[in-house]
Order: sequence, then structure tokens, then C-alpha cells
Amino acid sequence: MKRPIAYVAGTGRGIPAKVMTNHDFAALGLETSHEWIVERTGIVERRIATADETTCSMAVTAARQAMAKAGVHAGELDAIVLSTATPDRLLPSTAVDLQAQLGATRAAAFDLSAACTGWIYGMTVAEGMIQSGVIETALVVGAEKMSAIVDWKDRSTCVLFGDGAGAVVLKRSQSGANKGILSAFLRSDGKLAELLWRPAGGAAVPFSETVLEERSSYVKMAGREVFKHAVRQMSEACDRALDGAKLTGKDIDVLIPHQANHRIIEATAKHASVPMEKVYVNVDRYGNTSSASIPIAIDEAIERGRIKPGTTALLCAFGAGFTWGSMVIRF
Ligand code: ACO
Repeated sequence: MKRPIAYVAGTGRGIPAKVMTNHDFAALGLETSHEWIVERTGIVERRIATADETTCSMAVTAARQAMAKAGVHAGELDAIVLSTATPDRLLPSTAVDLQAQLGATRAAAFDLSAACTGWIYGMTVAEGMIQSGVIETALVVGAEKMSAIVDWKDRSTCVLFGDGAGAVVLKRSQSGANKGILSAFLRSDGKLAELLWRPAGGAAVPFSETVLEERSSYVKMAGREVFKHAVRQMSEACDRALDGAKLTGKDIDVLIPHQANHRIIEATAKHASVPMEKVYVNVDRYGNTSSASIPIAIDEAIERGRIKPGTTALLCAFGAGFTWGSMVIRF
């Protein structure tokens, strides 16, 4: 096992107050039901941002909590890595808005795009920056306003997603300390991009009346195909992170998988030989918050005593791209 280079010094989350239950879809005229959504996904409700709440505003809330718990002030941040599939605008990044609002005057700031795996990618990038000696302290945020990019007329996608942000402060490990990131694994397969994507609204197919008419700037997903790949790649990701840390499922105190679907979570836990009592699940309350899902879950798990000093956690995610990845962290 490698000596940890970086450790989680503090965590936080920024969750909209507005709750949307499965029953609320009836008011949108969608032919769906609470029973269908719960049986296929495990989702009971999700949080939806108001018009005033942005990807950045949720990130600010999460970041301030994480910094307070870490005892780190804005001037100490060397880098802000913000993973999002829902930037507030395309140029410049949401990370620079966060940097300005925090007053992090010494920080580099950039967005990272790897969909639901984005926060694990971001943690790995930040750890690498610490290892290279460029930085000492990073803020790694996953923030998503998925409600802005789903098609509220498409029952096969809009019921799945929710809004929120999670953040951690990542600091250089003290020499001899054994807490921190023990292993990481990242992969992608862009040949499968069109199974989960927003076809229009970027540089290749800019916004036009046709795009609006065809609703092609919203998320499109081949649910069944995505499901199969998610189960396979999340399982592979768990194996690789465990191998990297020279651990087995039995050594894991808590598994925090990306919260997309309860059935995918169960299949992943079974493959990793981690019993469901050791799996942190909140997809029932938040739906799929893309790259925010794992840092939100970590923050809740700490608050609820499921993660304590010394806890070994396995994290794994899968998302559009496809991208997938995993990480073992000792807290
Ligand atoms: N309510 C009622 N019926 C619905 C709904 C709905 N909300 N959505 C779809 N249906 C219907 C379909 O139209 C279809 O009807 P038909 O048989 O008459 O054609 C039927 O239900 C079955 O549809 P499937 O898509 O085959 O249902 P499935 O069992 O695969 O469940 C689901 C769909 C929940 C989307 C599942 O495929 C899934 O979870 N896929 C993975 C999605 C995912 O996790 N995405 C995110 C991962 S990556 C990331 O996080 C960005």
C-alpha cells in the first residue's frame, strides 16, 4: 500500500431546501407512478434548486462547510477543482465564480468534466497536484443543477435526477500518517458517448430554433444499456481500487457508490463482497446528483457516525462518457 499523499481534512454539502417527491410528477402531466420509480430505482424524492440557486451557490454552501470543518480559510486554498456537468455558463468556468465568492485569492480554479465520475477524477487530479509539489491544499467540489438540463417531458430521465453539491478540503498528508487516499482508478470509453448525452447546445451543434423544437439540448439516455455498463464498470472499478490498496472487500468499513439507482448499488456491493449494512445509500432522498453524489454521501456519513477517524471507505462511480473510477480512502 502506498503512503498517503493527501487526506480529507473537512467535508460539506449544499442541498436545495425544495423537495420534489415521486407523487409530484403527476402535476407535470407525466405518466409515471411512485411505485414504478421506487421499484426500478429506489428513489423516493429529490431536491430541486429554485431559480435563484445555481451550481455555484450550492458549491459555495458546501465549500464553506468543508473549509470550516477543516479549519482552512479561503486564503489558504491553492486550488479549486470543481466537477460539474451543469456549469452555470460555458465560459468562464463555474470554479472561478466559486473562487471569487470564497475570496480564495491564491487559488487556481478550473472545472472538470467527467459526468458522474467527475468528483473522483477531481480528487485524483488534486492529489497529483499535491504530489507534484505545486499545491498543498485543494478544495474538490462536485456541484450539479441537473434539473436545468433534464427534459421535464421525458419520464424516462427526469425522474432519476436531483440537484446538490458536496465538497472536501484535501490537504497534504503529514509524513508517517496513514490516513488519506490509498488508491485510485480511472477509466473511460468515449465510443459509448451517445448512450448518455446532450446532443446539442455545444460548439458542434449550437443552440438554434431546431434544437429547441427537437429538445436535443436535454439529457438523452438509453437506460437499459447504461444500466448494464454501470453494473459492469462499477464492479471493475471496485476490484481495481481494492487491488491498488492491497485490500479486499472484507477490509472495507463503508462502501459509498455513486447514487444513481438502488439496483446498481446492490449489484456493485455484491460484486465487491461488501454487505449492504456497510453500504451508504441516500439515493432514496436525493436521486442521482451526478458528480455531487459521492461527496454529499461522505459528508452525511461522517455526520451520522458511519465514517469516523480510521474508517476505510471504498468509493466508486460511473457516468456519461462513459467514465468510471474508484478510490479507497482512510479517514
Ligand atoms: N414511469 C413509468 N414508466 C416508465 C418510466 C417512468 N418514469 N420511464 C420509462 N418507463 C417505461 C418505458 O417507456 C418502458 O415502457 P414500454 O415497455 O412500454 O416501452 C418501460 O417503462 C420499461 O422501460 P425500461 O427503460 O426498459 O426500464 P428499466 O427497467 O430499464 O428501468 C431505468 C429504467 C430506471 C432508467 C434503468 O434502465 C436505469 O436505472 N438505468 C440506468 C440509469 C442510470 O443509472 N443512469 C445514470 C448513470 S450515469 C449518470 O449518473 C449520469
